[in-house]
Amino acid sequence: MNKFVKAPATVGICALLLLGAGSASALSDSEVKSLMKKSNCFRCHAEDKPKDGPTYKEIAEKNRDKPDIEAKFYKRITTFEKVEIKGKKEDHEPLKTKDDEEIKAVVKWILSR
Ligand code: HEC
Repeated sequence: MNKFVKAPATVGICALLLLGAGSASALSDSEVKSLMKKSNCFRCHAEDKPKDGPTYKEIAEKNRDKPDIEAKFYKRITTFEKVEIKGKKEDHEPLKTKDDEEIKAVVKWILSR
């Protein structure tokens, strides 16, 4: 995992310096991923290999340009819903955090695949 940390962290820090605190995500790529792992998001979605759910790449490509998509996904990953997988209803459990910054970082991460 750690080999992924360096470059995105550097980019993140530069972005923070350029944009000023508040507007850029304070989470690194690997922090986003570990939160998503903890929340079981990779059980049904992978970055680019189809599983029970669409890949994050497909999700990003399909939704990136839609209006208000960040707000919609914010709600989607913080509320308990049901999804249908092979005709069976399964729980779409929310992200295991209530932290606004963390949730926004996950939404941004998904939409930038
Ligand atoms: C039980 C398997 C499962 C788990 C666990 C799961 N998902 Fe999903 N997810 C799906 C399926 C299936 C869909 C597509 C069906 C739908 O959109 O209703 C979906 C849809 C989505 C969408 C919307 C895609 C769109 O095009 O609108 C997002 C965003 C998403 N998931 C993110 C997450 C995140 C973040 C987590 C972790 C908190 C997560 N998922 C956990 C199965 C799962």
